[in-house]
Amino acid sequence: MPQSIDPKHSALPTSRAAELSPTEKNYLHLLKEVLIDIDNAARFQLTPYPRGRSNVIKRFLVNKLINTLAKKGLSITGVDPSGIAAREKGLGWPLNGYSMIGARRMDNLQHCLEQVIADGVEGDFIETGVWRGGACIFAKAVIDAYGEDRRVWVADSFEGLPKPNTDLYPEDAGDDLYSLEQLRISLEQVQSNFERFHLLDERVVFLKGWFKDTLPEAPIEKLAVLRLDGDMYESTMDGLVHLYPKLEPGGYLIVDDYGVIPACRKAVHDYRERHGIQEPIIDIDGSGHFWRKD
Ligand SMILES: C[S@@+](CC[C@H](N)C(=O)[O-])C[C@H]1O[C@@H](n2cnc3c(N)ncnc32)[C@H](O)[C@@H]1O
Repeated sequence: MPQSIDPKHSALPTSRAAELSPTEKNYLHLLKEVLIDIDNAARFQLTPYPRGRSNVIKRFLVNKLINTLAKKGLSITGVDPSGIAAREKGLGWPLNGYSMIGARRMDNLQHCLEQVIADGVEGDFIETGVWRGGACIFAKAVIDAYGEDRRVWVADSFEGLPKPNTDLYPEDAGDDLYSLEQLRISLEQVQSNFERFHLLDERVVFLKGWFKDTLPEAPIEKLAVLRLDGDMYESTMDGLVHLYPKLEPGGYLIVDDYGVIPACRKAVHDYRERHGIQEPIIDIDGSGHFWRKD
């Protein structure tokens, strides 16, 4: 019997939810559950763990096996009886879902969008690092539900992560996420995922390529919500350098991996230090963190 996430468990209140009709609220709630694949919460894709120096060989062999199967369209699945809790916190990669970020980070995304809408903060939404597109699909649904005409920028290589550039970013040394087939989701697949929910239109703009190439050139004027989910130091820093100056005062910066990937956290600290950013960093679920620009 599929279980549902208890809305009481939402990490943050949604600020303008009262303005939506019960049907609209229900639509967003159900969409969130479908995007994170809550009905199959107990089933997850095997991902390349364990991490850590002592596990290098084990991890290499597990990766090789996972990648060989992924090239044939197969994946090893596990069963986790505490799956609902895991999907709430965005742990593990869902088998059929459209986003790996989990319910609390989805709630946080909704909260940030509703707050900027309520406060009239101008600008678009962007996510850098979209995988199957689920977080961007949800952002588009929220923006549409409030009748706003903000754009949703969808930035990704659509070919997985880059190899670490350790000359420029020694913090990424040893990062092997680039080798994972499971993280290579094509542009066509993400577009078709938007279509699946009738959310693909001219206000969804795709930026295909490495962030270092696409973000400096992107014709983005103002951002109200900037969501970084590129995992690595380089990817996080590229997002901050090229996009944070476009974030309006009162806008939100969300960093998906701040709590769990040290290189990502270091990029955030380095950027904040360089620019004297003092706004407190708020924890969402142990992994995702965010702050509101003064
Ligand atoms: C963890 S996944 C994103 C998860 C997604 N936000 C979700 O809702 O499930 C990381 C994504 O970042 C992309 N990525 C990471 N670094 C990148 C870079 N430097 N340039 C382009 N894409 C990058 C990868 O292709 C991958 O799709």
